[in-house]
Amino acid sequence: MATVVLAYSGGLDTSVAIRWIKEKYDLDVIAVTVDVGNERNMQEIADRAIQIGAVKSLIVDGREDFVRYFVWPALQAGAIYEGQYPLATALARPLIARLLVEVARQEGAVAVAHGCTGKGNDQVRFDVSINTLAPDLKIIAPVREWGMTRDNELAYAAEHNIPLKTTVANPYSVDQNLWGRSVECGILEDPWAEPPAEVYAWTSDPDALGDLAPKYYEITFKNGIPVALDGEEIPGYVLIETLNSEAGKYGIGRIDHIENRLVGIKSREIYEAPSAVVLHAAHNALESLTLSREQVRFKETVAAEYARVIYNGQWYSALHQDLAAFVQSTQRFVSGTVRVKLSRGRCQVVGRKSENSLYSIGLATYDSGDQFDHNAALGFIKLWALPLTTQAQAQLLPSIGFEGNLLNNGEGKVQIASKSESETEK
Ligand code: ARG
Repeated sequence: MATVVLAYSGGLDTSVAIRWIKEKYDLDVIAVTVDVGNERNMQEIADRAIQIGAVKSLIVDGREDFVRYFVWPALQAGAIYEGQYPLATALARPLIARLLVEVARQEGAVAVAHGCTGKGNDQVRFDVSINTLAPDLKIIAPVREWGMTRDNELAYAAEHNIPLKTTVANPYSVDQNLWGRSVECGILEDPWAEPPAEVYAWTSDPDALGDLAPKYYEITFKNGIPVALDGEEIPGYVLIETLNSEAGKYGIGRIDHIENRLVGIKSREIYEAPSAVVLHAAHNALESLTLSREQVRFKETVAAEYARVIYNGQWYSALHQDLAAFVQSTQRFVSGTVRVKLSRGRCQVVGRKSENSLYSIGLATYDSGDQFDHNAALGFIKLWALPLTTQAQAQLLPSIGFEGNLLNNGEGKVQIASKSESETEK
Protein backbone atom coordinates (compact mmCIF):
# COMPACT_ATOMS: atom_id res chain seq x y z
CA MET A 1 0.00 0.00 0.00
CA ALA A 2 1.11 3.57 -0.64
CA THR A 3 2.64 5.37 2.30
CA VAL A 4 2.80 8.85 3.78
CA VAL A 5 5.54 10.13 6.08
CA LEU A 6 4.09 12.06 9.01
CA ALA A 7 6.01 14.49 11.24
CA TYR A 8 4.89 13.05 14.56
CA SER A 9 5.21 14.92 17.85
CA GLY A 10 3.20 12.67 20.13
CA GLY A 11 0.65 15.41 20.81
CA LEU A 12 -3.10 15.29 20.29
CA ASP A 13 -3.16 16.54 16.69
CA THR A 14 -0.59 14.21 15.20
CA SER A 15 -1.83 11.25 17.24
CA VAL A 16 -5.33 11.68 15.87
CA ALA A 17 -3.81 12.29 12.43
CA ILE A 18 -2.28 8.80 12.24
CA ARG A 19 -5.70 7.27 12.45
CA TRP A 20 -7.50 9.93 10.41
CA ILE A 21 -5.09 9.76 7.45
CA LYS A 22 -5.54 6.02 7.29
CA GLU A 23 -9.32 6.43 7.23
CA LYS A 24 -9.54 9.40 4.90
CA TYR A 25 -6.71 8.72 2.43
CA ASP A 26 -6.19 4.99 2.89
CA LEU A 27 -2.44 5.49 3.20
CA ASP A 28 -0.08 3.68 5.53
CA VAL A 29 1.51 6.10 7.93
CA ILE A 30 5.21 6.13 8.70
CA ALA A 31 5.75 8.32 11.74
CA VAL A 32 8.93 10.35 12.03
CA THR A 33 9.77 11.99 15.32
CA VAL A 34 12.57 14.48 14.99
CA ASP A 35 14.68 15.20 18.03
CA VAL A 36 15.59 18.88 18.01
CA GLY A 37 16.06 18.91 21.77
CA ASN A 38 12.34 19.12 22.33
CA GLU A 39 11.52 16.02 24.33
CA ARG A 40 13.30 13.56 26.57
CA ASN A 41 11.14 10.49 26.03
CA MET A 42 11.57 10.03 22.28
CA GLN A 43 11.24 6.25 22.40
CA GLU A 44 7.99 6.44 24.31
CA ILE A 45 6.58 8.84 21.72
CA ALA A 46 7.73 6.68 18.83
CA ASP A 47 6.19 3.59 20.44
CA ARG A 48 2.88 5.36 20.81
CA ALA A 49 2.76 5.99 17.05
CA ILE A 50 2.88 2.22 16.52
CA GLN A 51 0.16 1.63 19.13
CA ILE A 52 -2.06 4.08 17.28
CA GLY A 53 -1.51 2.29 14.00
CA ALA A 54 1.56 3.63 12.22
CA VAL A 55 3.26 0.92 10.15
CA LYS A 56 6.67 2.21 11.10
CA SER A 57 7.98 4.75 13.57
CA LEU A 58 11.37 6.38 13.23
CA ILE A 59 13.30 8.69 15.53
CA VAL A 60 15.76 11.03 13.90
CA ASP A 61 18.30 12.79 16.07
CA GLY A 62 18.44 16.22 14.45
CA ARG A 63 20.12 18.04 17.32
CA GLU A 64 23.58 18.45 15.85
CA ASP A 65 22.32 19.48 12.44
CA PHE A 66 19.84 21.83 14.03
CA VAL A 67 22.55 23.60 15.98
CA ARG A 68 25.14 23.63 13.23
CA TYR A 69 23.07 24.52 10.19
CA PHE A 70 20.20 26.47 11.67
CA VAL A 71 20.79 27.86 15.16
CA TRP A 72 24.38 29.04 14.76
CA PRO A 73 23.82 30.75 11.43
CA ALA A 74 20.82 32.55 12.95
CA LEU A 75 22.93 33.59 15.92
CA GLN A 76 25.75 34.80 13.68
CA ALA A 77 23.21 36.79 11.70
CA GLY A 78 21.71 38.30 14.85
CA ALA A 79 18.30 37.10 13.63
CA ILE A 80 15.56 38.15 16.05
CA TYR A 81 12.08 38.65 14.62
CA GLU A 82 10.56 42.07 15.31
CA GLY A 83 13.27 42.69 17.86
CA GLN A 84 11.89 40.06 20.21
CA TYR A 85 11.54 36.49 19.00
CA PRO A 86 14.74 34.43 18.58
CA LEU A 87 12.90 32.15 16.11
CA ALA A 88 13.19 28.73 17.77
CA THR A 89 10.07 27.24 16.19
CA ALA A 90 10.66 28.90 12.83
CA LEU A 91 14.24 27.57 12.61
CA ALA A 92 13.32 23.94 13.23
CA ARG A 93 10.68 23.77 10.47
CA PRO A 94 12.97 23.73 7.43
CA LEU A 95 15.10 21.02 9.06
CA ILE A 96 12.05 18.87 9.82
CA ALA A 97 10.75 19.45 6.28
CA ARG A 98 14.08 18.32 4.88
CA LEU A 99 14.12 15.17 7.03
CA LEU A 100 10.53 14.36 6.02
CA VAL A 101 11.54 14.54 2.37
CA GLU A 102 14.62 12.39 3.02
CA VAL A 103 12.59 9.69 4.74
CA ALA A 104 9.89 9.88 2.07
CA ARG A 105 12.57 9.18 -0.58
CA GLN A 106 14.07 6.30 1.39
CA GLU A 107 10.68 4.75 1.98
CA GLY A 108 9.27 5.46 -1.46
CA ALA A 109 6.37 7.42 0.05
CA VAL A 110 3.94 9.35 -2.13
CA ALA A 111 3.15 12.03 0.42
CA VAL A 112 4.30 13.79 3.57
CA ALA A 113 2.10 15.08 6.36
CA HIS A 114 2.34 17.53 9.23
CA GLY A 115 0.07 18.61 12.07
CA CYS A 116 -0.08 22.36 11.43
CA THR A 117 -3.28 24.35 11.59
CA GLY A 118 -4.57 26.51 8.77
CA LYS A 119 -3.87 29.86 10.38
CA GLY A 120 -0.28 29.71 11.52
CA ASN A 121 3.14 30.30 10.07
CA ASP A 122 4.28 26.72 10.43
CA GLN A 123 2.06 25.36 7.65
CA VAL A 124 3.66 27.91 5.34
CA ARG A 125 7.18 27.01 6.43
CA PHE A 126 6.55 23.29 5.96
CA ASP A 127 4.68 23.52 2.69
CA VAL A 128 7.02 26.02 1.08
CA SER A 129 10.11 24.01 2.13
CA ILE A 130 8.63 20.70 0.97
CA ASN A 131 7.41 22.14 -2.32
CA THR A 132 10.83 23.62 -2.92
CA LEU A 133 12.79 20.46 -2.09
CA ALA A 134 10.40 17.88 -3.54
CA PRO A 135 7.72 19.37 -5.80
CA ASP A 136 6.31 15.93 -6.64
CA LEU A 137 5.40 14.99 -3.07
CA LYS A 138 1.81 15.48 -2.01
CA ILE A 139 1.31 17.32 1.28
CA ILE A 140 -1.40 16.30 3.70
CA ALA A 141 -2.20 18.63 6.60
CA PRO A 142 -4.99 16.86 8.52
CA VAL A 143 -5.58 19.60 11.08
CA ARG A 144 -6.05 22.12 8.28
CA GLU A 145 -8.48 19.77 6.53
CA TRP A 146 -10.57 17.98 9.10
CA GLY A 147 -12.41 20.90 10.70
CA MET A 148 -12.48 19.26 14.12
CA THR A 149 -12.34 21.34 17.30
CA ARG A 150 -10.16 20.23 20.17
CA ASP A 151 -13.14 18.58 21.79
CA ASN A 152 -14.00 16.78 18.55
CA GLU A 153 -10.46 15.51 18.43
CA LEU A 154 -10.63 14.26 22.01
CA ALA A 155 -13.89 12.49 21.20
CA TYR A 156 -12.35 11.00 18.06
CA ALA A 157 -9.38 9.81 20.11
CA ALA A 158 -11.63 8.19 22.71
CA GLU A 159 -13.78 6.54 20.05
CA HIS A 160 -10.76 5.04 18.30
CA ASN A 161 -8.86 4.10 21.47
CA ILE A 162 -5.99 6.41 20.65
CA PRO A 163 -3.64 6.55 23.66
CA LEU A 164 -2.79 10.14 24.60
CA LYS A 165 -0.14 11.47 26.89
CA THR A 166 -1.43 13.20 29.99
CA THR A 167 -0.26 16.69 29.02
CA VAL A 168 -3.08 17.05 26.48
CA ALA A 169 -5.17 18.41 29.33
CA ASN A 170 -3.03 21.55 29.12
CA PRO A 171 -4.96 24.46 27.52
CA TYR A 172 -1.88 25.87 25.79
CA SER A 173 -0.32 25.07 22.48
CA VAL A 174 3.37 24.52 23.02
CA ASP A 175 6.25 23.96 20.66
CA GLN A 176 9.78 23.61 21.92
CA ASN A 177 13.29 22.79 20.86
CA LEU A 178 16.83 23.56 22.01
CA TRP A 179 16.60 27.20 21.00
CA GLY A 180 13.39 28.00 22.83
CA ARG A 181 9.85 27.27 23.87
CA SER A 182 6.76 28.86 22.26
CA VAL A 183 3.42 29.00 24.03
CA GLU A 184 0.09 30.31 22.79
CA CYS A 185 -3.70 29.89 23.23
CA GLY A 186 -5.83 29.84 26.38
CA ILE A 187 -5.79 33.02 28.44
CA LEU A 188 -2.77 34.26 26.44
CA GLU A 189 -5.15 35.19 23.63
CA ASP A 190 -6.12 38.20 25.75
CA PRO A 191 -3.25 40.63 25.16
CA TRP A 192 -4.10 42.48 28.38
CA ALA A 193 -3.84 39.34 30.55
CA GLU A 194 -0.56 38.77 32.34
CA PRO A 195 0.68 35.25 31.60
CA PRO A 196 -0.12 32.95 34.53
CA ALA A 197 2.80 31.20 36.22
CA GLU A 198 1.88 27.83 34.72
CA VAL A 199 2.75 29.07 31.21
CA TYR A 200 6.44 28.97 32.04
CA ALA A 201 8.35 25.72 32.17
CA TRP A 202 11.97 26.67 31.58
CA THR A 203 12.35 29.86 33.57
CA SER A 204 11.88 30.74 37.23
CA ASP A 205 9.85 33.76 38.23
CA PRO A 206 12.50 36.48 38.52
CA ASP A 207 10.53 38.07 41.36
CA ALA A 208 10.60 34.93 43.46
CA LEU A 209 14.30 34.22 43.51
CA GLY A 210 14.98 35.22 47.13
CA ASP A 211 18.61 36.20 47.48
CA LEU A 212 20.03 34.09 44.70
CA ALA A 213 23.58 35.39 44.13
CA PRO A 214 24.52 36.50 40.61
CA LYS A 215 26.57 34.10 38.54
CA TYR A 216 29.18 34.77 35.86
CA TYR A 217 29.88 32.83 32.70
CA GLU A 218 32.58 33.23 30.09
CA ILE A 219 31.48 32.37 26.58
CA THR A 220 34.15 31.90 23.93
CA PHE A 221 33.29 32.41 20.27
CA LYS A 222 35.16 31.37 17.17
CA ASN A 223 34.00 33.12 14.00
CA GLY A 224 30.77 34.04 15.68
CA ILE A 225 30.03 30.52 16.96
CA PRO A 226 30.09 29.72 20.69
CA VAL A 227 32.68 26.99 21.24
CA ALA A 228 33.44 27.03 24.96
CA LEU A 229 31.82 27.80 28.28
CA ASP A 230 34.13 28.95 31.07
CA GLY A 231 37.10 27.90 28.98
CA GLU A 232 35.86 24.37 28.41
CA GLU A 233 35.13 23.32 24.85
CA ILE A 234 31.77 21.59 24.62
CA PRO A 235 29.44 20.56 21.81
CA GLY A 236 26.99 23.25 20.74
CA TYR A 237 23.84 21.57 21.94
CA VAL A 238 25.37 20.94 25.38
CA LEU A 239 26.35 24.59 25.63
CA ILE A 240 22.82 25.62 24.67
CA GLU A 241 21.22 23.18 27.12
CA THR A 242 23.51 24.31 29.92
CA LEU A 243 22.70 27.97 29.42
CA ASN A 244 19.00 27.18 29.10
CA SER A 245 18.97 25.65 32.53
CA GLU A 246 21.45 28.08 34.16
CA ALA A 247 19.93 31.29 32.79
CA GLY A 248 16.46 29.77 33.23
CA LYS A 249 17.10 29.58 36.98
CA TYR A 250 17.52 33.36 36.96
CA GLY A 251 14.29 33.90 35.07
CA ILE A 252 16.16 35.10 32.01
CA GLY A 253 14.62 34.74 28.56
CA ARG A 254 10.91 35.37 29.11
CA ILE A 255 9.45 37.14 26.10
CA ASP A 256 5.87 38.37 25.70
CA HIS A 257 5.34 39.24 22.06
CA ILE A 258 2.39 40.43 19.98
CA GLU A 259 3.75 39.38 16.64
CA ASN A 260 2.78 39.82 13.03
CA ARG A 261 2.20 36.45 11.46
CA LEU A 262 2.90 35.94 7.80
CA VAL A 263 -0.76 35.10 7.22
CA GLY A 264 -1.81 38.56 8.37
CA ILE A 265 -2.91 37.84 11.92
CA LYS A 266 -1.51 39.48 15.03
CA SER A 267 -0.94 36.85 17.67
CA ARG A 268 0.26 36.82 21.22
CA GLU A 269 3.00 34.37 21.99
CA ILE A 270 5.03 33.75 25.12
CA TYR A 271 8.55 32.57 24.52
CA GLU A 272 11.13 31.17 26.85
CA ALA A 273 14.57 31.35 25.35
CA PRO A 274 17.20 31.69 28.06
CA SER A 275 20.12 30.47 25.99
CA ALA A 276 19.15 32.47 22.92
CA VAL A 277 18.86 35.67 24.94
CA VAL A 278 22.24 35.16 26.62
CA LEU A 279 24.03 34.10 23.44
CA HIS A 280 22.60 36.91 21.30
CA ALA A 281 23.68 39.44 23.94
CA ALA A 282 27.16 37.95 24.11
CA HIS A 283 27.54 37.63 20.35
CA ASN A 284 26.37 41.17 19.84
CA ALA A 285 28.88 42.41 22.41
CA LEU A 286 31.71 40.65 20.61
CA GLU A 287 30.65 42.18 17.31
CA SER A 288 30.68 45.62 18.93
CA LEU A 289 34.33 45.00 19.68
CA THR A 290 35.41 43.47 16.39
CA LEU A 291 33.29 44.96 13.60
CA SER A 292 33.64 48.45 12.22
CA ARG A 293 30.90 51.01 12.72
CA GLU A 294 29.81 50.62 9.09
CA GLN A 295 29.73 46.82 9.32
CA VAL A 296 27.62 47.01 12.47
CA ARG A 297 25.23 49.43 10.84
CA PHE A 298 24.72 47.46 7.64
CA LYS A 299 24.54 44.18 9.52
CA GLU A 300 21.55 45.46 11.51
CA THR A 301 19.66 45.74 8.24
CA VAL A 302 20.76 42.28 7.17
CA ALA A 303 19.82 40.83 10.57
CA ALA A 304 16.27 42.11 10.31
CA GLU A 305 15.96 40.79 6.76
CA TYR A 306 17.49 37.45 7.74
CA ALA A 307 14.97 37.15 10.59
CA ARG A 308 12.11 37.79 8.17
CA VAL A 309 13.43 35.17 5.75
CA ILE A 310 13.45 32.61 8.58
CA TYR A 311 10.09 33.66 9.99
CA ASN A 312 8.42 33.72 6.59
CA GLY A 313 9.51 30.22 5.59
CA GLN A 314 12.05 31.20 2.93
CA TRP A 315 14.93 29.14 4.29
CA TYR A 316 15.53 27.33 1.00
CA SER A 317 15.84 30.48 -1.07
CA ALA A 318 18.57 32.19 -3.02
CA LEU A 319 18.01 35.35 -0.99
CA HIS A 320 18.87 33.37 2.12
CA GLN A 321 22.09 32.17 0.51
CA ASP A 322 23.00 35.72 -0.42
CA LEU A 323 22.37 37.06 3.08
CA ALA A 324 24.22 34.12 4.61
CA ALA A 325 27.26 34.84 2.46
CA PHE A 326 27.38 38.38 3.79
CA VAL A 327 26.93 37.19 7.36
CA GLN A 328 29.68 34.57 7.04
CA SER A 329 32.06 37.18 5.74
CA THR A 330 31.34 39.47 8.70
CA GLN A 331 32.10 36.69 11.17
CA ARG A 332 35.72 36.10 10.19
CA PHE A 333 37.04 38.31 12.99
CA VAL A 334 34.26 37.66 15.52
CA SER A 335 36.36 35.50 17.82
CA GLY A 336 37.02 36.09 21.49
CA THR A 337 35.45 35.79 24.92
CA VAL A 338 32.51 37.53 26.53
CA ARG A 339 31.78 37.58 30.23
CA VAL A 340 28.12 37.69 31.22
CA LYS A 341 26.54 38.19 34.59
CA LEU A 342 23.27 36.45 35.32
CA SER A 343 21.03 37.95 37.97
CA ARG A 344 17.28 38.26 38.58
CA GLY A 345 15.68 38.17 35.16
CA ARG A 346 18.66 39.85 33.62
CA CYS A 347 21.72 38.95 31.59
CA GLN A 348 24.32 41.67 31.44
CA VAL A 349 27.50 41.66 29.40
CA VAL A 350 30.20 42.83 31.81
CA GLY A 351 33.37 42.08 29.85
CA ARG A 352 34.64 41.24 26.38
CA LYS A 353 38.02 40.56 24.80
CA SER A 354 39.31 39.53 21.41
CA GLU A 355 42.59 39.21 19.54
CA ASN A 356 40.86 41.05 16.73
CA SER A 357 39.58 43.83 18.93
CA LEU A 358 39.26 47.23 17.28
CA TYR A 359 39.13 48.91 20.67
CA SER A 360 42.22 50.98 21.31
CA ILE A 361 42.86 52.20 24.82
CA GLY A 362 45.33 54.75 23.41
CA LEU A 363 42.54 56.28 21.36
CA ALA A 364 39.79 55.95 23.94
CA THR A 365 41.46 57.04 27.16
CA TYR A 366 40.83 60.34 28.91
CA ASP A 367 43.92 59.72 31.04
CA SER A 368 47.60 60.06 30.18
CA GLY A 369 48.82 58.12 27.18
CA ASP A 370 46.12 59.60 24.95
CA GLN A 371 47.10 59.20 21.29
CA PHE A 372 44.02 60.73 19.75
CA ASP A 373 44.84 63.81 17.66
CA HIS A 374 42.65 66.52 19.16
CA ASN A 375 43.68 69.04 16.51
CA ALA A 376 42.55 66.70 13.77
CA ALA A 377 39.09 66.81 15.36
CA LEU A 378 38.81 70.50 14.41
CA GLY A 379 39.40 69.83 10.74
CA PHE A 380 37.08 66.86 10.87
CA ILE A 381 34.27 68.90 12.43
CA LYS A 382 34.67 71.60 9.80
CA LEU A 383 34.21 69.15 6.94
CA TRP A 384 31.50 67.15 8.69
CA ALA A 385 29.52 70.37 9.21
CA LEU A 386 30.18 71.65 5.71
CA PRO A 387 26.99 70.40 4.05
CA LEU A 388 24.89 71.63 6.97
CA THR A 389 26.42 75.09 7.17
CA THR A 390 26.23 75.46 3.41
CA GLN A 391 22.58 74.56 3.26
CA ALA A 392 21.65 76.62 6.31
CA GLN A 393 23.18 79.71 4.75
CA ALA A 394 21.73 79.13 1.31
CA GLN A 395 18.20 78.05 2.27
CA LEU A 396 17.24 77.88 5.93
CA LEU A 397 18.53 80.97 7.69
CA PRO A 398 17.47 83.50 5.00
CA SER A 399 13.85 82.34 5.01
CA ILE A 400 13.14 81.59 8.63
CA GLY A 401 16.04 82.92 10.63
CA PHE A 402 17.68 81.40 13.65
CA GLU A 403 14.58 81.20 15.84
CA GLY A 404 12.31 79.38 13.48
CA ASN A 405 14.90 76.91 12.42
CA LEU A 406 14.57 73.24 13.25
CA LEU A 407 12.46 73.38 16.34
CA ASN A 408 10.51 70.26 17.01
CA ASN A 409 7.00 71.59 17.51
CA GLY A 410 5.88 68.46 19.32
CA GLU A 411 3.24 67.75 16.71
CA GLY A 412 5.18 65.12 14.93
CA LYS A 413 6.96 67.35 12.54
CA VAL A 414 10.24 69.11 12.79
CA GLN A 415 9.39 72.76 12.44
CA ILE A 416 10.89 74.55 9.54
CA ALA A 417 8.17 77.17 9.66
CA SER A 418 8.56 80.47 7.92
CA LYS A 419 9.21 83.46 10.13
CA SER A 420 5.89 85.04 9.32
CA GLU A 421 4.00 81.88 10.30
CA SER A 422 5.71 81.60 13.66
CA GLU A 423 5.06 85.27 14.26
CA THR A 424 1.33 85.01 13.59
CA GLU A 425 1.13 82.21 16.18
CA LYS A 426 2.35 84.57 18.87
N1 ARG B 1 4.60 32.09 16.62
C1 ARG B 1 5.77 31.28 16.53
C2 ARG B 1 6.22 31.16 15.12
O1 ARG B 1 5.47 31.39 14.21
C3 ARG B 1 5.60 29.93 17.17
C4 ARG B 1 4.58 29.04 16.53
C5 ARG B 1 4.34 27.73 17.26
N2 ARG B 1 3.81 28.02 18.52
C6 ARG B 1 3.06 27.21 19.27
N3 ARG B 1 2.73 27.65 20.43
N4 ARG B 1 2.70 26.03 18.89
O2 ARG B 1 7.36 30.85 14.87
